[in-house]
Amino acid sequence: MYRKNKEKIDKLQLLSQKMYIFAPNIKYHKAMKISIIGTGYVGLVTGTCFAELGVDVTCVDTDSQKINRLVYGSIPIYEPGLENMVTGNVNEGRLRFASDFNRAFADVDYVFCTIDTTPDADGSTNLDPVYRIAKVFGQRVERACTFVLKSTVPVGTASEVRRIVDEEIARRGVSVQVDIASNPDFLTEGNAIKDFMKPDRIVIGVETERARESMTRLYRTILMHNNRRVIFTDTRTAEMIKYAATSMLATRVSFMNEIANLCELVGADVNVVRHGVGTDSRIGPKYIYPGCGYGGTLFPQDIKDLIKIGDSHDFDMRVLKAVENVNTRQKRILFEKLSRFYDDDLKEKTVALWGLSFKPETDDMSEAPAIVTLDLLTEAGCKVRVYDPVAMNATKLRWDHVYCGIDMYDAVKDADALLILTEWRQFRIPAWDRVKSLMRTPLVIDGRNIYDAAELEAAGFTYRCIGR
Ligand SMILES: NC(=O)c1ccc[n+]([C@@H]2O[C@H](COP(=O)([O-])OP(=O)(O)OC[C@H]3O[C@@H](n4cnc5c(N)ncnc54)[C@H](O)[C@@H]3O)[C@@H](O)[C@H]2O)c1
Repeated sequence: MYRKNKEKIDKLQLLSQKMYIFAPNIKYHKAMKISIIGTGYVGLVTGTCFAELGVDVTCVDTDSQKINRLVYGSIPIYEPGLENMVTGNVNEGRLRFASDFNRAFADVDYVFCTIDTTPDADGSTNLDPVYRIAKVFGQRVERACTFVLKSTVPVGTASEVRRIVDEEIARRGVSVQVDIASNPDFLTEGNAIKDFMKPDRIVIGVETERARESMTRLYRTILMHNNRRVIFTDTRTAEMIKYAATSMLATRVSFMNEIANLCELVGADVNVVRHGVGTDSRIGPKYIYPGCGYGGTLFPQDIKDLIKIGDSHDFDMRVLKAVENVNTRQKRILFEKLSRFYDDDLKEKTVALWGLSFKPETDDMSEAPAIVTLDLLTEAGCKVRVYDPVAMNATKLRWDHVYCGIDMYDAVKDADALLILTEWRQFRIPAWDRVKSLMRTPLVIDGRNIYDAAELEAAGFTYRCIGR
């Protein structure tokens, strides 16, 4: 393991030196140093991937428990491939974790701000923590450094960070060369390492040529084979690209969910409609799969933020408000189908759920359709049995009456219905004869359209899905 990584680093350094030959404006740094502020999903993936590329990385977080767990090798998130990468880089001394901010800003080339921006009570993004970090950075930065905003933040945040940092440096009466960059993150949970190492594009907002050079130096290994993947722009445009991209994806999902609901009413098959639509090269096949609604930390919050940004400029984001409303309604759809099947009498019915996370390959249940479904089933007086390969711990904490199955088959014992909420791979080809023998009523309500209706009906199930 060690030798393999050593070979990789030697190769990267060789490539860096080659790049220097072809890009004489870019200085070759021997030991690039980065501090990552906020060691959550984005911070941990970003820090670990930079360490994997040979950079010296310190990940900092105010959550000292999280840092302690990381120091002892326990990874707080589920992300395929990440644990091995963290362990390898910690062992080789390129990656470390700390809860002490004091040294995070002094002797580094880049500071990445990757904290979460939790909304205020009125739903607007609370930027105070970002500005506090900028202030401490301005108070402590000692040498040339680029402050990189990776958190998703409203348009204009980088400009305000610039003002705060300049003010603090001026107060100290010193001269330090500091650049500010906006570098929004586009990782998708479950695919985060690939998204970092082979991104569709890297968006970088800068205000000076020096900042542009600094960011090129940082990302040159990733961009090496395709420089067109980097989009340099000003910081406000970079901040806007992030919101516009997320909103476009969410719009596609809500649009297709609405089409699916209409398909049911008019007797059309949404799967074929989706195929017919997605094969149009102007549209493409991604993010048009109908289902029981989108969740996660990203889509819902970014859409709320963009609506707020519009409001703050007296501009009504009507499309996005509709996208949000459609999604809220869609998260109820499995419960409503179940309720209709049992003529609104669900009391004492046993309902099994397969999948809890908002999508496969993650333990993240934020804003997941499963939350709405579990609340509705609880209100209706159902007994609930669930199974998810990785997301059951959060469920145990919030719904202590819910039974967490040992496996997917244990979860369906005596069930009057099986609801599919997340399309984990292991749910795709179950032993239907076993499922049927365990259930009291063979009813499957598929919120991700992963099964073949004819096959299930031939196996003796009543099958419901979205848009067919
Ligand atoms: N998770 C994603 O898929 C994703 C993708 C793209 C962009 N983003 C954006 O990136 C940002 C981070 O998202 P995340 O999912 O990594 O969040 P997260 O909740 O997983 O992690 C945030 C971390 O920041 C820490 N933190 C909060 N305030 C801090 C402070 N003042 N100093 C130091 N640490 C602090 C928290 O303790 C937490 O560990 C958000 O703005 C999010 O919208 C997230």
